[in-house]
Amino acid sequence: MVEDFNRITVEPLAGSIGAEIKGVYISESPDLDVISEIRSAFLKYNVIILRDQDITSDQYMNFAEKFGDPSEYPFIQGLPNYPYINPIIKLEDEKVNFGGTWHTDTAYLNEPPLGTMLLAKEVPPTGGDTIFANLYSAYEALSEGLKEVLNSMNAIHSSLKADASKTREDRIKDNGRKGAGEFSSCNPVIRTHPETGKKAIYVNLGHTVRFDGWTEEESRPLLEFLYGHCIKPEFTCRIKWEVGSLVFWDNRCSLHNPVNDYHGYKRVMHRITLKGDTPV
Ligand code: SIN
Repeated sequence: MVEDFNRITVEPLAGSIGAEIKGVYISESPDLDVISEIRSAFLKYNVIILRDQDITSDQYMNFAEKFGDPSEYPFIQGLPNYPYINPIIKLEDEKVNFGGTWHTDTAYLNEPPLGTMLLAKEVPPTGGDTIFANLYSAYEALSEGLKEVLNSMNAIHSSLKADASKTREDRIKDNGRKGAGEFSSCNPVIRTHPETGKKAIYVNLGHTVRFDGWTEEESRPLLEFLYGHCIKPEFTCRIKWEVGSLVFWDNRCSLHNPVNDYHGYKRVMHRITLKGDTPV
């Protein structure tokens, strides 16, 4: 990972997480050195934003493929001719927004995605921001005693947990994939990032059901403590979207939550997730 940025300008968005990358336009096919610096910024800040990206779906796919292998989202179909680009939509007459709870993407898979890209196509006049939280910072802020306990624990995640599953219903109705059932996984509560070697908390309100070997009732108090701890304001940043904003977040060390404060307006994003590996 390069620490100095020579080809890109990187401006942190907050003390703990998030950075804006300036002066890079995907339509101009950035060279490999620029891509490598973008990857370093992604690893350093967990969430990066590039604004004013006026790109085609082919250019978007091409850019995403520089950072990993795109994967299909299990519940919703991609765009016609672009199976790896998922439309993430809230319509004017809907009240529920897709993914509208604190989560990291598809933690219920045995190999959850390394990262997600979201490109804003249509945004409400105000609202519809997305908040991100840094799970390295959340881990580091725990007491040594709790770190030690959590380090040996696993958690069970399920795609059926209502906190997240109810946010997909509108989209499954109009664009669902046939035959997608339950997905569940057992992953470490504290995972070590395969590229940075840093430890991060890996439970989330949207998908985590219980600790492995514990009942749901026994798990709830400690899980609720962790959910609240992970999203303390000092671990977060907030992204305000404009058409053409492209955000790339690291699912291995961050949570996100799209704010549902724009009823009556449409919001359309194009999402690409990149294959990850088994959390350890
Ligand atoms: C998601 O969780 O993929 C959606 C995030 C957003 O709409 O901002």
